[in-house]
Amino acid sequence: MCGIIGIIGKAPVTPLLVDALKRLEYRGYDSSGVATLVNGHIERRRAEGKLVNLEARLAQAPLPGIIGIGHTRWATHGKPSERNAHPIATDRVAIVHNGIIENFQELKDELTAEGRRFDSDTDTEVVAQLLTSYLERQMSPEEAIAKAMDRLRGAFALVALFGGRHDLLIGARRGSSLAVGYGDGEMYIGTDALALAPFTSRVSYLEDDDWAVLKADGCAVYQGTKPVERPIKKSGLSGALMGKGNHQHFMLKEIHEQPAVIGDTLHSYLDPATRSVRMPAMPVDWSKVSRVTMTACGTAFYACMVAKYWFEKLARLPVEIEVASEFRYREPPLPEGGVCIAVSQSGETVDTLEALRYAKNQKQTLLSVVNVPESAIARLSNAVLLTRAGPEIGVASTKAFTTQLVVLLAAAISAGLARGTLSRADEERLALAMIELPARINETLNMEEDYRRIAENTLAGARDVLYLGRGASYPVALEGALKLKELSYIHAEGYAGGEMKHGPIALIDDAVPVVVVAPTDAIFDKIASNFEQVRARGGKLVLLSDKAGVARLGAKAETSIALPDIDPVVAPILYTVAVQLLAYYTALAKGTDIDQPRNLAKSVTVE
Ligand code: F6R
Repeated sequence: MCGIIGIIGKAPVTPLLVDALKRLEYRGYDSSGVATLVNGHIERRRAEGKLVNLEARLAQAPLPGIIGIGHTRWATHGKPSERNAHPIATDRVAIVHNGIIENFQELKDELTAEGRRFDSDTDTEVVAQLLTSYLERQMSPEEAIAKAMDRLRGAFALVALFGGRHDLLIGARRGSSLAVGYGDGEMYIGTDALALAPFTSRVSYLEDDDWAVLKADGCAVYQGTKPVERPIKKSGLSGALMGKGNHQHFMLKEIHEQPAVIGDTLHSYLDPATRSVRMPAMPVDWSKVSRVTMTACGTAFYACMVAKYWFEKLARLPVEIEVASEFRYREPPLPEGGVCIAVSQSGETVDTLEALRYAKNQKQTLLSVVNVPESAIARLSNAVLLTRAGPEIGVASTKAFTTQLVVLLAAAISAGLARGTLSRADEERLALAMIELPARINETLNMEEDYRRIAENTLAGARDVLYLGRGASYPVALEGALKLKELSYIHAEGYAGGEMKHGPIALIDDAVPVVVVAPTDAIFDKIASNFEQVRARGGKLVLLSDKAGVARLGAKAETSIALPDIDPVVAPILYTVAVQLLAYYTALAKGTDIDQPRNLAKSVTVE
């Protein structure tokens, strides 16, 4: 989604605004812009496309000013163009906005009837025009914002810059995140602590319906007309974290970080010395829970799918899973004393957040598995299970997913112990399998060239690719297909191996590569049959298995990779790395924009 930044500085702010936008660009990248005050007047530079276009514009026409706002956009209303790029401004106020103003048409009709002329196709412009209308009625900026908050519906984070006010920025949020950074005689406001990281580590997080008045020496926060306190916290993030290191893309760097961040996450949830699970205190007695509901979107939803296998197998606990955007509108009845687990890297995904709100209204205990501790989903939850993935900048999720799986497996083991379905010996065996993961993933990463070869020779030229898996490898097949379509724009689908013969098998011919995710587990024979069914129809098989699996089926595949041997319970985590590498190298061979794929955005804060 969009990234926003505002700075009250002591020196020209445009370079700092652009610097912050670079850190926010992963959220949305179809256009960008900055606005400052020059001799009291609002001046803007905006450009369609990537931030480099804005930088080129600024090189031609520099923008002075010591107070300003900036934006990088993921279009919701109005196509990506310079005209629709933020900041959206009148002569009185300039606005940067993340989210959607749901009642924009009603407000636009009203404002048009007042004689106001709209210059863009954005919903954001109603905010700029509404504030201008209030300012022209002699309201102060503070009064105008407070009044506008009452009129705006939807989810949004906004920052406003006012003509003639070198000392003032006002931010407001409902639904979308907004953080205030405290400097030394300088103030910052932005989408998240990551955007503010190089400027300051002293950060406060606004709550829903807050509006914040920033002056050079501090910030006052209000809800309605009532002043409220938002504590200043020390953010552990550093701007240095944002580099790609020696890697060509953030995604590749993040794939390679997995042994380390899985190690960090394991450290929080396991005691390696005793090989036991170590969960934080939780408001859940697993032995009394009758059903778990899990909800999430996209890749995070596939984490729920894998976790369903784990909770049901290891803890004999029924789990219902559903994508968050459907779950909340289906209005399912949820059992008294039930537990709802939301999974989200960003902790801001609005569909997941609203699904969790629904579960809260149904009196469920809310657990969340998130990567951002201060996020809205974390704050709504009764207990938070943090993943230790660190900032994920590549738009396609990689290390967030595998760390989510680690946390969910630890939770499933702890539920199994509480319910008496796992013994201490089982716990030791499972803990040991988890402890081995970073080393096995490293071995997989050392075979990168094999993945590159398959990507270049077999996948990159295909129009369609199928992925098959069974049991907990089925969600891995779905994740492999999602990664491939996101990154390479090749049409790809994942299927449960046994489901092939019920329809999708019609797609098989010698032009369709079929990636089979098949660790040798209890149902290996079943996926082996599905493998043969594809082979009998001339499909090009790519086998991902272990030594035993490749020994059995490898000769019949077009190509195969033997992954390291591993306990089948943790195989979904290891095999995910394999499908990530296939997708990455296919996209690399096709020359697509890997870190910022077309049409996508990180942190989807609109419905
Ligand atoms: C895919 C991807 C998305 C996200 C989804 C949920 O690579 O990144 O499918 O997984 O948008 O995002 P979070 O986890 O932030 O809730």
